[in-house]
This record gives sequence, structure tokens and C-alpha cells, in this order.
Amino acid sequence: MPINLRGRSVLALEDFTPAELRLLLDIAKELKAAKRGGLERPRLSGKNIVLIFEKDSTRTRSGFEVAAYDQGAHVTYMGPSGSHIGQSETVKDTARVLGRMYDAIEFRGFAQADVEVLARYAGVPVYNGLTDESHPTQILADFMTMREFTHKHLSDIRFAFMGDGRNNMARSLAVGAAKIGMHFTIGAPEELWPDEAFRLHVDQIAKTNGASIKFEADAVAAVKGTDFIYTDVWLSMGEDPARWGERIELLRPYQVNAALMAATGNPFTKFMHCLPSFHNAETKMGKDIETRYGVSAMEVSDEVFESPASVVFDQAENRMHTIKAILIATLG
Ligand code: CP
Ligand code: NVA
Repeated sequence: MPINLRGRSVLALEDFTPAELRLLLDIAKELKAAKRGGLERPRLSGKNIVLIFEKDSTRTRSGFEVAAYDQGAHVTYMGPSGSHIGQSETVKDTARVLGRMYDAIEFRGFAQADVEVLARYAGVPVYNGLTDESHPTQILADFMTMREFTHKHLSDIRFAFMGDGRNNMARSLAVGAAKIGMHFTIGAPEELWPDEAFRLHVDQIAKTNGASIKFEADAVAAVKGTDFIYTDVWLSMGEDPARWGERIELLRPYQVNAALMAATGNPFTKFMHCLPSFHNAETKMGKDIETRYGVSAMEVSDEVFESPASVVFDQAENRMHTIKAILIATLG
């Protein structure tokens, strides 16, 4: 039976089979080549997509907007203020309103339950553009980038995530790796490991796909032999800024710097980050953290971020191609 994703929502990676995820990656690869070659064909003419952002975004918003425009669709952006959602109108009511006008809904917010309610009541595909729990569209871009920077099959790849092992990125990477049969380690202090229920959950998925998902408190052991080292901010959007001090202390040994890259023992290891990143103190928040805590880079050193091993901007570009693949597969 050929795979058909028409009408499907993208709420979490759990909802997709490994073959469906691979198909989306294949479509994204073709779309990237088509765009580069000036051969792109619009398949979404006349479609209207609403983009709801309860949190800020650069890549996800741009990815959805450019993907839609390239394909002939129209978008409406609703930012953290300016619509009634969650303020004076329930998510369930908003879903039923937007479903009457739009062909699809993208949602970035806090609760995973909200994106699920939208999908249950909108009657059109809903795409999770990040919640506190998961960031599924980012993982597709990451796996697409991995395919571009290694000759290995995805299922032969070893990679490590260093940092807050409970956050949306760590969890989504773990589920994605378990689905695709990869060898993935979360390098984090035990306080920042995901809870046991989640660890059992990914272990179950991993078992059926020949993957291995490990949790390791020793930073050097976590990265040994990896093809990719991935990291993310130490405090995610929506977390209490008062926690910065404690998080910096906990995660300092897990910073991806030249010594940690060398500890892989693999001269070809690439560095990945979903972005945005605190690799210097040149942003408002970066300056503030430097003044308060005396650190000018957090999860990654500026040296590694700017090094030839860094593929972070390829990842960023691939957000658009993979989002486009999702739009075409579910709406086209
Ligand atoms: N990686 C990512 O989701 O970036 P934005 O927050 O800019 O969308
Ligand atoms: N963990 C980060 C990811 C940003 C793309 C956050 O939620 O802020």
C-alpha cells in the first residue's frame, strides 16, 4: 500500500511510522533540489493556512511562510497577542472557528494538550510548531541535515544531545531516533533526565526499530564515537528566568566546546543546534546573562558554533524544506 498522509496532523513523532518519516525526508530532499534548480511546481494554490504563535519564532514562522508562498498558499500570522485564543476564547472554540476558514493550522504554544485539542476540533490538519513537550517539525529538518552530512544510513548514525535532557528537543530527538533506529545518547546530569515513564516509552519504540537510547551523566562518555553532537538552550521558552543561575551551574560541564568535540575521538563529528543559541554575549539576553552570571557562552562555545564542523544553518534552511514536505504531503 502506498503511503498516504493526506489530511493528517503532525502533533508528535509518535503518530508516524518510520516509513512515513522517511517518506517526508525523501519529499523534502526532492523539494530542496527542485527549488535550487528553479523547477518547483506549486501544489498548494488556493490553500489558506493560519499560523498561531503563543511564543516567539524566527525559523518556524519563516519556514511555514516561505514554504506556503513557494507552493502558492496563503498564510495568516497570529502572534502572542492579537487573537482571542486562550485569553477570551477557548482553544476548542478557536479550533472550530479556524477550521471553517482555513485548510490547515500551525500552532506553537505551551501545552501539548492545546495542539491536540486544536486537531480534535478543527477538522483540518494541525501542525505542532513547538510545545513545551515536543518539536516534531524540527526533528525532520535535523534528520534531513544528518543525511546530507554523512554517508551513513540514518539507522547507523550515533549522536548525542547535551543539555537539558527533559526539554522538548531532547524528548523529540529521542523519539525520532527510536523510530528511525538510531543510536542516541542524552548527556545530562541525572536531575535533568526525562522521567522514568518517558524513558520506558522511548525504550519501547526503540526496541521495535533496533534503536538504542541511552542516558549518560558523564559528558565525555556521552559523546564518545558520535557522528553528531546536538545541543539546545539551557532554559527553554516559558521557563522561569530565575532558574538561569541553577541551570548554568548544572549544565556547565556539558557545554559543547573544542574539548568535548575532541572527546568524540571522531575528527568528522558535526555540531548541531536547533537555534537560537547562546554562543556569545551579543544579544540582549546574552549580555544580561553575562552581567549576572559571568558567562559569555552557554550551551556551545563561540569557537565550535563558528567552526567548519557546525551545520546549524543547514539545519535552519532545512526547516523550510521539511515543513514544505509536510504541507504538500498532508494538503497537496
Ligand atoms: N528552531 C526553532 O524552532 O527556531 P524558532 O524558535 O526561531 O522557530
Ligand atoms: N528548547 C527550546 C527550543 C527552541 C527551538 C525552547 O523551547 O525554547
